[in-house]
Amino acid sequence: MITNATGVTLVCLGPSSGFEVRSVLRRRPAAGEIEVAVAAASVNPIDVRRAQGYGRRLLSLVGAGRFPMVLGNDFAGTVTALGDNVDAFKIGDRVYGVKPPSTEGAHASHVLVKAAHVLPARAGQDLQALAALPYSFVTMWLAVRGAGLTRQNAAGRRVLVHGAAGGLGTLALQMMSAWGASVTAIARPPDFAACQEAGALEVVDSSSKPFATLSRTFDATLNFATWDDDLALMGVLRDGALGHATAVHPLLANFDELGWVRGVLKTLSDKRRHRAALPKNARYAWTVFKPETPALQELRELVEQQRVGLPIAIQESLAGAAQAFDHVKKGRRGRALILPG
Ligand SMILES: NC(=O)c1ccc[n+]([C@@H]2O[C@H](COP(=O)([O-])OP(=O)(O)OC[C@H]3O[C@@H](n4cnc5c(N)ncnc54)[C@H](OP(=O)(O)O)[C@@H]3O)[C@@H](O)[C@H]2O)c1
Repeated sequence: MITNATGVTLVCLGPSSGFEVRSVLRRRPAAGEIEVAVAAASVNPIDVRRAQGYGRRLLSLVGAGRFPMVLGNDFAGTVTALGDNVDAFKIGDRVYGVKPPSTEGAHASHVLVKAAHVLPARAGQDLQALAALPYSFVTMWLAVRGAGLTRQNAAGRRVLVHGAAGGLGTLALQMMSAWGASVTAIARPPDFAACQEAGALEVVDSSSKPFATLSRTFDATLNFATWDDDLALMGVLRDGALGHATAVHPLLANFDELGWVRGVLKTLSDKRRHRAALPKNARYAWTVFKPETPALQELRELVEQQRVGLPIAIQESLAGAAQAFDHVKKGRRGRALILPG
């Protein structure tokens, strides 16, 4: 239900059409939802790509394909209203969390979100630092689980992370080292120190044929870099390995470029071809972000232990959001935040 209270949103108008800051009437949270006044929201690579029209065909199935749209999948802020049946939070609580893909994302002064997709922030925890984490962490956790790794089985496992200096990669180094795995990072030399600080025991140069120097000794491989290297990554799994997961598969692009029928056929054939390259009984997963309660619980635990965090490079108001998008589009180091307040 619409209220008389107003807010502002960053509306993405369409490919090449830019953004507009719009005043909107806010809705009351539905049962199980809360409203959060957003202190900070991330700009992730998916936001940059969706702003250019990427993923529209498949995302239209969940109502997230049509412009104009408000982007943004994660945020931190303060609870301003509660729907029915919400006991876990009260007005004024500081929180952080995720939203599934929609056209009513987190790049806004206020966001409506399921209470189950939100975590409490402790007093003293920096909301901007927290806003950079949930979407990347949940996706990374889904990939780790997709490759067959768990908190219980990870100790001593050899794990290879491609794209290790990025958001997902850094969080994977942090979580896997916290779980006791022995982690090798693939990254560029200027990022080696950051990878080691995040928990990598070994670092391999992504710019000089990284797979030529690696042997088939890994229990799990995680691809957060490029689909072009997916088969090469699977090629270093040992016999009896747990598995491989990729977050950089062509699922959305296949449907954008080929339509429904050929998109399905191409996706099936891509998966079949790659699965055939796996060692026997190893798992193969194409990771797709979705809010996932156990992932959020793991995030909460690691945040409280101060085991996870990402460097933040740029913070912009809604009016300056194009610069935050540009930072991500250019692949610059550090996360980008929008501060709607
Ligand atoms: N499937 C899903 O639901 C989902 C969800 C979240 C993210 N993603 C995708 O997962 C990827 C990682 O996300 P992120 O937020 O961590 O991105 P990010 O912070 O931009 O990091 C990407 C990393 O991959 C490396 N990389 C990119 N292209 C490469 C290439 N051709 N060769 C070697 N390294 C390469 C980059 O290293 P350099 O800068 O050194 O090249 C960087 O370290 C993105 O492509 C993102 O779109 C997918």
